[in-house]
Amino acid sequence: MKYDVIVIGSGPGGYVAANRAAQLGLKTACIEKEKSLGGTCLNVGCIPSKALLQSTEHYAWLQKESKNHGIECADVKVDFTKMMQRKSEVVKGLTDGVAGLFKKYSVDRIDGTAKFTSKNSVDVNGQTLEAANFIIATGSEPIALPFLPFDEKTVVSSTGALALPKIPKKMAVIGGGVIGVEIASVYSRLGTEITIIEMLDFICAGMDESLSKSLLQILKKQGLTFHLGTKLAKAEKKNGGFVLTLEGKEPSSLETEVVLVAIGRRPYTKGLGLEEIGLKLNKGFIEVNGNFQSSIPHIYAIGDLIEGPMLAHKASEEGVAAAEIIAGKQGQVNYMAIPNVIYTHPEVASIGLTEKEAKEKNLDIIIGNCAFRANPRARCAGDTDGFVKVIGAGLKKHLVGMHIIGPHASELISEGMMAIEKRANLQEIAQSPNAHPTFSEAIKEACGQALGISVNL
Ligand code: NAI
Repeated sequence: MKYDVIVIGSGPGGYVAANRAAQLGLKTACIEKEKSLGGTCLNVGCIPSKALLQSTEHYAWLQKESKNHGIECADVKVDFTKMMQRKSEVVKGLTDGVAGLFKKYSVDRIDGTAKFTSKNSVDVNGQTLEAANFIIATGSEPIALPFLPFDEKTVVSSTGALALPKIPKKMAVIGGGVIGVEIASVYSRLGTEITIIEMLDFICAGMDESLSKSLLQILKKQGLTFHLGTKLAKAEKKNGGFVLTLEGKEPSSLETEVVLVAIGRRPYTKGLGLEEIGLKLNKGFIEVNGNFQSSIPHIYAIGDLIEGPMLAHKASEEGVAAAEIIAGKQGQVNYMAIPNVIYTHPEVASIGLTEKEAKEKNLDIIIGNCAFRANPRARCAGDTDGFVKVIGAGLKKHLVGMHIIGPHASELISEGMMAIEKRANLQEIAQSPNAHPTFSEAIKEACGQALGISVNL
């Protein structure tokens, strides 16, 4: 069988690329080795974690906040089995949805593991498939600590952490990055004693410093313990759990039932046969040009396999662009307009340049802030932690960065995305009408504050 495009991997990069290629009239197949389509994001990443974050947020609200609204909730209990079942149902609904989309767009779904047998063919379960173009979208895998391999029961990656059979009493989290703080939030709300061990002196590296500092304070207030500037030196088995020896500013040890290792992810290219066909890798990543072409031009790569943040929506944008390029169109991705979100409570969301990055580029910047305690809707909701920070640059003060910690930050950041896409400046945002009262007024006010024209701050 000869295809125009074979996509390897059905995550948010791969399935989107396959659908777009088929939509553009290309004969397309998508090869997936797992039973369920959707990759890490849908099966063991973004979707199940957000389902559990939502459930546990409701629980935390009922326990801690409801009384402030005059609502008495006696005897609020968690049915963890039911919570996990619901999470699995959400995952199933969405992965079945991907299968439905393949049917709708006439993408051939091929079950099995692909291995290149030549530059134009792959083997899947003994069957040879040929294509004029390939898009590799096999994603990434969690990095393990060399002395503490994953068993996904007591030493877990995000995959195991999202499928634990019971709520652990204690969990040590190695790595205070996105996965660390999100999963720590889930279990902390369920009563697990959480200790986060982070090598750097701050959490969530890469975020604007103001967000990282504020999130740390808020998470501490929520009861999470942090050891910053600290590394895990040793882990010894004890009573079905571990005794961990920590090395760093304050050497110490702690006992834990479960260890979550969330120290980053690496590209997953195992078994694809890339070396055999001479495709160039750089530190495990596939090197691509601006058109997502690898060193073998008709083999494209997208998502976690190539440079840039490992984000589902970045992979999807690249998938669409690669399919369009193969179809002879001008596919491109505006990397400045890719948001970053952490789904803690409050949420953290960021787009464009951080203050540090803007300064390193010697941009002439102005900065505006609006705290959510000055936002009427946040007051009504009783959800006033956090702020919006905007960065404008150049003569016209175009928006180059927006950093939000606060209620619904994941949704609010879309305004920053559109402003950056359309090159809006702070004045245009400050002078656009917002519904009142809304959380989004905090963005308008932050822009106004930067320009000295806010009448509410
Ligand atoms: P990460 O890169 O966000 O954080 C890893 C942290 O571990 C870093 O702060 C690093 O300094 C620390 N670290 C590394 N080695 C260590 C050691 N030996 N001891 C202590 N600390 C150590 O990686 P994470 O959280 O594993 O996430 C992986 C990827 O998944 C990220 O690229 C992220 O973008 C993506 N992701 C995105 C989500 C979202 O968009 N909401 C949710 C979950 C994951």
